[in-house]
Amino acid sequence: MRSDEARPADQTIGARSASAETGIESHLHESRIFEARKDFGASVGGAYVRNLKEYRARFKRSIEDPEGFWGEIARQFDWFQPWTKVLQWDLPDAQWFVGGKTNICHNCIDRQVLQGHGNEVAIVWEGEPELTRDAASAPRFEVRHLTYSDLLAEVSAFANVLKSLGVRKGDVVTLYMGMVPELAIAMLACARIGAAHSVIFGGFAAAAIVDRVQDAGSKIIVTCDGAWRRGSIVPLKANVDAACEQLPDVRHVITLRRTKNDVTWFAERDHWWHDLTRAASRDCPCEWCDSEDLLYLLYTSGSTGKPKGIRHTTGGYMVYTATTAKEVFNLVPGHGQLYWATADIGWVTGHSYVVYGMLPNRVPSLMYEGAPNAPAEDRFWDIIERHRVTHFYTAPTAIRAFMKWGNEHPLKHNLTSLKVLGSVGEPINPEAWMWYYQTIGGGRCPIVDTWWQTETGGHMITPLPAATPLVPGSCTLPFFGVDAAIVNEKGEEQPPNTGGLLVIRKPWPSMLRGIHGDRERYIDTYWSRVPGMYLAGDGARRDERGYFWIMGRIDDVINVSGHRLGTMEVESALVAHDAVVEAAVVGVPHEIKGTGVAAFVTLGPGFTPSEALRKDLIEHVGKEIGAIAKPDMLRFTQTLPKTRSGKIMRRLLRDIAAGRDTRQDTTTLEDFTVLAKLRESDE
Ligand code: WTA
Repeated sequence: MRSDEARPADQTIGARSASAETGIESHLHESRIFEARKDFGASVGGAYVRNLKEYRARFKRSIEDPEGFWGEIARQFDWFQPWTKVLQWDLPDAQWFVGGKTNICHNCIDRQVLQGHGNEVAIVWEGEPELTRDAASAPRFEVRHLTYSDLLAEVSAFANVLKSLGVRKGDVVTLYMGMVPELAIAMLACARIGAAHSVIFGGFAAAAIVDRVQDAGSKIIVTCDGAWRRGSIVPLKANVDAACEQLPDVRHVITLRRTKNDVTWFAERDHWWHDLTRAASRDCPCEWCDSEDLLYLLYTSGSTGKPKGIRHTTGGYMVYTATTAKEVFNLVPGHGQLYWATADIGWVTGHSYVVYGMLPNRVPSLMYEGAPNAPAEDRFWDIIERHRVTHFYTAPTAIRAFMKWGNEHPLKHNLTSLKVLGSVGEPINPEAWMWYYQTIGGGRCPIVDTWWQTETGGHMITPLPAATPLVPGSCTLPFFGVDAAIVNEKGEEQPPNTGGLLVIRKPWPSMLRGIHGDRERYIDTYWSRVPGMYLAGDGARRDERGYFWIMGRIDDVINVSGHRLGTMEVESALVAHDAVVEAAVVGVPHEIKGTGVAAFVTLGPGFTPSEALRKDLIEHVGKEIGAIAKPDMLRFTQTLPKTRSGKIMRRLLRDIAAGRDTRQDTTTLEDFTVLAKLRESDE
């Protein structure tokens, strides 16, 4: 029990009121400041940045002399051949560590083994299912500890497997797996041989696999028979089989046995992971990769229906993700730290802060296979207690769900091992921040609210745990080298507390290197609206302290449970259904998800609204994209409200969606034309 430790914050760290906290959005009425604890450094084996003064001095240097700053940091990694120039910037194209040769897998694994740390744990993994429990004993779970030496052997073996199937440097290997260590192993095996990976989130449906495999030109898919999710099996291999019906170029599918469900076998393309790796040599030298060789593609939603393949390359990504992980979480090897990011590896957080940013820091990374409420709502707290987790990184949507499930779940567990808490994926509302701070962190642990994106590769705006005073709801200050600003369309910086576009004005090492196969879209999306600056696609403001407050997306992307979803993707899925003629999708405030999906559809002749059709359409979206895209609310309408020039009045639809009880009137056919006429002038 630890309830006695959950003291109010103002007793523990001297909360005080901020001066003029004006202009804050209505949902962000927060003025308390939580000063950094003086004893934080001592509790974690030393702080890298000890106070705001040190932060400011290093920040200044990083902006004034980025090449000197990043060059010094990059020299702490292993390079097979040094670079000739730290940065070559030809807007909008950056090259970092030009001419340098390295291998990120070497820096994650081999380097640790060569330095005598082969027997230290690199990955702690826990499976979802609860193993047999008898009345007399505590529940047991399946746990694996993989050391750097274990990883070296397994990654090398799988790298040899990939080579034996013809994978060469520069090829793209698709990974569609559950949260098992073999997913990290497969990623690292690709990196080892200079192949790129494209990880597809295991929650996506077959159609999403087809799009991504085609766009990447991938000829090989690695999957699992199934993935555990709340005690049931997600049939990953069956989804791959369905996708392969439309993917004649896929030559090999490698399947890891995990859930032991029946799978259909296609002898000409199917292989079992265990058959191939059993026969493979455990010796595979690292390929020398150029700093700018493609490391991976990761698809993310944009304003059009087609997901964008974000390109990340080797050298800059390696240096930046490991450095942000180290400084933002204050990772110190040899001090019993155990870090756990709950993100699925299918998203960028899993790439950067479960795998690549973690391993070079020699602090073990915990991977958990399943859901937070399986078998019960205290699963996460149970994991933290049993493994003595010190760093915990999750999303506001999860925090809101925990709050709803009740304090009894965390209070049952001893969470005193925790030192640093993190938040990512969407703005954290101050209520959730306070709950996280007090109920999970016991009022002791700084919360690093990290703002970043798939495109940025690593943290961009974030507190540093020993240095930055925290204000609930603000992601605070930019990381080193990040020249973030709030500007108007002309690129002029906005005064404090004035909303504007969030941009980054200088290149940073892990920035995206483009959208796979679509140069024009890269330039249009990120570099056109405000010439010369990277447009993040978020609206934001800075307060008088210089702290950033993210207000939300400015494009047709909504943030559902911390996951990016293009409204057009959902619209295309809906109109693909026989009954639907036209669809408009907008975000609607949602208690747990932050933003939910609201869909308005018009039906074709011969179709009438009904509860059954509504359910069918929602399921249809789940099948086309994945469960995260299923509309929370779906309404039938006579016609969609449009302006005279034919544009759908999205603002009106957002208001309608937000203003009405979603459970009522689901089968009436609504007519928004009168409302549309009234509103036309302000759309
Ligand atoms: C949002 C996830 C507020 C933002 C790492 C961004 C956030 C999008 C935060 C990127 C945060 C992410 N506070 N908003 N701390 N972190 N976002 O590509 O809108 O899945 O543009 O990357 O999530 O989502 P993505």
